[in-house]
Amino acid sequence: MANDIDTVTWDIADGIAWLRFNRPDKRNAMSPTLNRAMMEALDQLEFRDDVGVLVLTGAGSAWTAGMDLKEYFRETEADGLAGTRKAQRESYSWWRRLRWYQKPTIAMVNGWCFGGGYGPLFACDLAFAADEAKFGLSEINWGILPGGGATKVAVELLPFRKAMYHSMTGEPIDGKTAADWGLVNESLPLKELKDRVTQVARVLLEKNPVALKATKDAVRRVGPMSYDDAEDYLVRAQEAANSYDAEGRKEGIRQFIDEKSYKPGLGAYDT
Ligand code: ACO
Repeated sequence: MANDIDTVTWDIADGIAWLRFNRPDKRNAMSPTLNRAMMEALDQLEFRDDVGVLVLTGAGSAWTAGMDLKEYFRETEADGLAGTRKAQRESYSWWRRLRWYQKPTIAMVNGWCFGGGYGPLFACDLAFAADEAKFGLSEINWGILPGGGATKVAVELLPFRKAMYHSMTGEPIDGKTAADWGLVNESLPLKELKDRVTQVARVLLEKNPVALKATKDAVRRVGPMSYDDAEDYLVRAQEAANSYDAEGRKEGIRQFIDEKSYKPGLGAYDT
């Protein structure tokens, strides 16, 4: 099954939605048109029964070269503050949507990833990069601060000195360094990237989907909470999950204790 929405394409295979930035000639720079198409694609994919994991990747040599300097900045600024705010809403809103997406999400960073690209990078639950990819907060190189959440992403994912160096110098780093620094989970040669991402997606596909959504939200939510607030949130989040999936955890216990068909320490129960 395949579908094209102009600057964004996607197809679905074996439970995985492969969603692509699709402006390879412009290094997948995020234009307002692309931002709107991404939101539309996310809408279409989110609650489909045949999608268990969403992978976000890029066509051609880029993951995304960040915001489109011409179409996102120059042309929208020409429409005044209203134009700028509209363009911001259209990009920030699909990144936010992705941060809280119903299905687990994986960034498969095949190439260039700059500036505004850190928004969707952080929005994805997991991230795998090609060794050949290049990451950079290039904003400083053309005269702005890393906005659109990019500074926040650097501070969330990197130690202070690295966040500061990365933001102030605008020096790009490769996939291996991005993995060492914690921007992505792993980096591996481009030719091995898709197989590894597929392997990880398959692991996620075996899990209870209600528990996965509760877990990924919990990891994002508890960071700024006190221990007591987090403890309380997690109790309530599990109890809310129970109302969607009353039997899942009971079945997980049953298959281990009664049936002895699997070991939770080593893998998932049969959902
Ligand atoms: N905005 C608009 N157009 C872009 C962007 C961008 N962010 N990135 C690439 N393009 C366009 C180029 O203008 C060029 O268009 P043209 O063919 O009409 O001349 C085309 O994409 C190809 O770009 P090249 O520079 O020729 O590609 P190359 O592979 O040599 O270099 C690279 C790739 C390093 C990504 C380079 O294009 C680049 O530095 N892009 C800008 C990266 C950047 O700083 N992005 C903004 C981050 S800040 C933010 O997002 C808020």
